[in-house]
Amino acid sequence: MAIIAPSILAADFANLGRDIEMINRSQAEWIHCDVMDGKFVPNISFGMPILSAVKKLSPKVIDVHLMIVEPERYLADFKKCGADVLTVHAEASIHLHRTLGAIRELGMKAGVALNPHTSLSSIEEVLPLIDVVCLMSVNPGFGGQKFIYSVIEKTTRLKQMILAQKTSTLIEIDGGVNMETGKLLVEAGADVLVAGNFVFASSTPETIIQQLMTL
Ligand code: DX5
Ligand code: ZN
Repeated sequence: MAIIAPSILAADFANLGRDIEMINRSQAEWIHCDVMDGKFVPNISFGMPILSAVKKLSPKVIDVHLMIVEPERYLADFKKCGADVLTVHAEASIHLHRTLGAIRELGMKAGVALNPHTSLSSIEEVLPLIDVVCLMSVNPGFGGQKFIYSVIEKTTRLKQMILAQKTSTLIEIDGGVNMETGKLLVEAGADVLVAGNFVFASSTPETIIQQLMTL
């Protein structure tokens, strides 16, 4: 069964408390929070004050996806505002080995996200230090984009790499997840499915979460 991580980027920010309550009632185990700086990606979302509010409202695992340059500058701040999983982009972290160690030292799970064009070889040497690899199945920056199908085969290859290195790394997929793409991803070895629009555009989001979980 997959872990479902609803992405609050697609929530109604005027009713964020209500939408977090929905996630709390649902079977989702994680809440995916997209932090964007307008530099690493061409969009700005939200930062620490919103994350602190989410933490206050929910006992779920807070999964923070940093789409920011120089993420190593803010690791302790994200710990302070409640991150349980902290994911940096391989493309944004020049000293990835050091950054992963620092995230774990602060008591968080360490995640690395890869853009669609970034090869798995960029994490091969540090796989034992990674708790979650987040494969981007859209170009990061916006919700509601079209799924890039080549990530399914990339998921299969990542699963093989994890088995070969005997690590307990989880595979998370982010972008364009729905029932059809979700099924293919779970079959390929995905452990965590991020879903933004597919959950929040539905009139029955809790049912959608339940269905994604049992694909
Ligand atoms: C995109 C974000 C995603 C986004 C996914 O840059 O990282 O987490 O919220 O949204 P959907 O599920 O709508 O593609
Ligand atoms: Zn994300």
